[in-house]
Amino acid sequence: MFLFMSRPVGTPSNSIRAVRDRLGDDFVDKLDELHLNALRTGLVSTGDLQEAYRKARDINSNQNRLNLLWLLGIIFFIMIATPVFYETISFLLGVRCFLPNNHLVWEATRPISDCEFCKGVSAPLILHNLTREEFARFAYSSRPIIVKKGVAHWPAQRYLNYSFIKQLYDSVPDSMETVCQFQHFNSNLKSLRDVFSMPPSRANLSEGVPWFVGWSVCQSQILAELRKLYPRPHFLPVDAEMPNTDFILMGYEQGAVMHLDYIPRLMWQAQLQGNKSWILSPAPECDHQCQSFFFYVEPGDAVLVDTRIWYHANTMPRGQFSLSVQSEYG
Ligand SMILES: [Fe+2]
Repeated sequence: MFLFMSRPVGTPSNSIRAVRDRLGDDFVDKLDELHLNALRTGLVSTGDLQEAYRKARDINSNQNRLNLLWLLGIIFFIMIATPVFYETISFLLGVRCFLPNNHLVWEATRPISDCEFCKGVSAPLILHNLTREEFARFAYSSRPIIVKKGVAHWPAQRYLNYSFIKQLYDSVPDSMETVCQFQHFNSNLKSLRDVFSMPPSRANLSEGVPWFVGWSVCQSQILAELRKLYPRPHFLPVDAEMPNTDFILMGYEQGAVMHLDYIPRLMWQAQLQGNKSWILSPAPECDHQCQSFFFYVEPGDAVLVDTRIWYHANTMPRGQFSLSVQSEYG
């Protein structure tokens, strides 16, 4: 169109030569012919064509500006509407986070794995209860490890159960209101108060649907009482740093779905009651080099997994109560 309007017929210039080189002589000749035919009709002049070109250019320019405004408007709407939408849904459902722990955001922003951690790994390393010195060379491995019967001597193995934990929370004022982190997974229990106000028949699953929850124990009084029943795993390095919170996981059947943990250290988990199945998978970008695998642990076993790089999910045998204590080291 620019050529059609601006080129004086029969007076080729350097710029027209450049246009010919770029578009090809045939194409330019056809535009010339069209231009001359239009002028021969007497209905249009070069001025008319220039005016038509100018209007078309302005319309395109305005259209582009309009498209840009629409795009900015849509982005602004999404930025404002999305959090309002999730807050509203969270409020209506009575949960703190409609997207628990922002897993979608974490997944979208996690670094791409180099897959070195999972190459050739198709099962956990199974160690039998061992000393700190014997464990030292495995302590910071990315290979999943089971220490069979590694926590079987803990008093928690005998005394820690749903009733004990309920009584403990009942005995400390406001303890259920100050839970740092609560995960209800697939259950309809939205808070620790819901967990400990279940009728006994629901709590022991003689009635109702299965439930599974996990929460962070960060109240010092509760934590101190619980830790009277379990020490730190004796095989972990003496200088390993551990957080001042533990995580309790308990319930039936469907545990956590496949996810990564966004925690600063390696994870250990002590299986105190019931059997638990673990499914570990590499990051999706490692599917062609690594494989998923499955294992289960029994009461008294300790599991050590770098849950920051291994996707993991858990299930429990039908009708069997599972209780675990989890923390970090590093
Ligand atoms: Fe996890």
